[in-house]
Amino acid sequence: MVMNTTTRPGPRSQTIIERDSAVMSGSITPRYPFVIERGEGARVWDVDGNDYVDFAAGIAVTSTGHSHPKVVEAITEQAKKFIHIAGTDYYYDVQVKIAERLAEIAPFDGPARVFLTNSGTEAVEAAFKLARWYTKRQNIIAFFGAFHGRSMGALSLTASKVVQKDGFLPLIPGVHHVPYNNPYRCMHGREEAACRANCICADYITDVLFKRTLPAESVAAIILEPLQGEGGYVLPDSRFVQQLRDICDKHGILLIADEVQSGIGRTGKWWAIEHHGVQPDMVCSAKGLASGMPLGALITRHEIMSWPPGAHGSTFAGNPISCAAALATLELVESGMMQNAAEQGEYIMECLEEMRSHHPSLKHARIDGKGLMIGAELVLDEQRTPAKKLRDSVEDFGIENGLLILGCGESGLRFAPALMIDRATVNEGLERFERALTQAEQAAGLL
Ligand SMILES: Cc1ncc(COP(=O)(O)O)c(C=O)c1O
Repeated sequence: MVMNTTTRPGPRSQTIIERDSAVMSGSITPRYPFVIERGEGARVWDVDGNDYVDFAAGIAVTSTGHSHPKVVEAITEQAKKFIHIAGTDYYYDVQVKIAERLAEIAPFDGPARVFLTNSGTEAVEAAFKLARWYTKRQNIIAFFGAFHGRSMGALSLTASKVVQKDGFLPLIPGVHHVPYNNPYRCMHGREEAACRANCICADYITDVLFKRTLPAESVAAIILEPLQGEGGYVLPDSRFVQQLRDICDKHGILLIADEVQSGIGRTGKWWAIEHHGVQPDMVCSAKGLASGMPLGALITRHEIMSWPPGAHGSTFAGNPISCAAALATLELVESGMMQNAAEQGEYIMECLEEMRSHHPSLKHARIDGKGLMIGAELVLDEQRTPAKKLRDSVEDFGIENGLLILGCGESGLRFAPALMIDRATVNEGLERFERALTQAEQAAGLL
């Protein structure tokens, strides 16, 4: 049942949206007319009293749900003790504790070191700098479709939407983009079957790049999202990721896993790269790490993070309140939520598969993902023509039906609720999703 207190957006929401557009930067104006009053678990309410199931989790950030009591307690207790002391100059236990914990769960053998940041972008930025510093090489390979952030360094690695770069060029030199492996829609234009059977995406690096434009021994790192996020929630073939590891081993290149969106239990394992059976040399984390408090981390093999004092730092990074929230988050994720994410994710995939038969835009769609990082790429026909407008309209009808759902890629939708979501809320969210999808398909003349 949808609790429809007012139309959406209601009058209070309208007023705030108007004030927002007068004063906030146009670059970040949200296009969804939802104004939050409060949240609890995987549900949110707007300022007009309407309720919503939250399949977006603040773009995969509120991992333990909105305002989990244990996270709120950790934040409150820490705030009473001290809020800031400059981790660049002094020591504090909660910062050491979160670094120790992250080192324990790092997806590679052996000891690790951790550099804390405020955001995903900064974790990527740190990885970029450290890769250059450690290898004394300048070049870095990234993938088309990747999103790594928006500061000049991270933006250089991003290759998601041109609007993100338009007007900001030129960026950092030495970045080379290559095709990502999408088993459904290979960058080489290969058919699904051919691509799945023997994907050549990684060969592009060895057979084209290294032979024609870029000496392998000049490459510091390959940066990879083990499950591409913004680019469409695309799960690559594990053989592709393994090939990348082999290339790195052969040429002394570092493999960086950008797990800003896919890490911290979201895919049913601590890190998405674990699904591929590959160990990276560096991992970038942020988003779900502190349940919504700003915290990011670069975690690397111990010997790699050997830069000297003063080489890199940040005033606010490793903020004690964020660290306390992260410790509580990791405990909750480990004690049940990660397992829950795997189970609810499988269930959502099954439900979406069932919906194929009565929804034309899902019939030939790519439905893909792991745990609670699931993408459904709406398409118009068997040739998989992306249904971008239809996707946008599902997001809008979602709001009307009391569902927060976000797009990704050209015509994808992401199912990324909090890791604690229960079956009843999943079902309610899926009902609202199906209603929104039906309305969008009707509006597009598909039904
Ligand atoms: C994979 C990935 N890397 C980096 C970032 C940038 O993180 P932030 O927005 O916290 O700077 C994002 C954000 O969406 C992301 O999904």
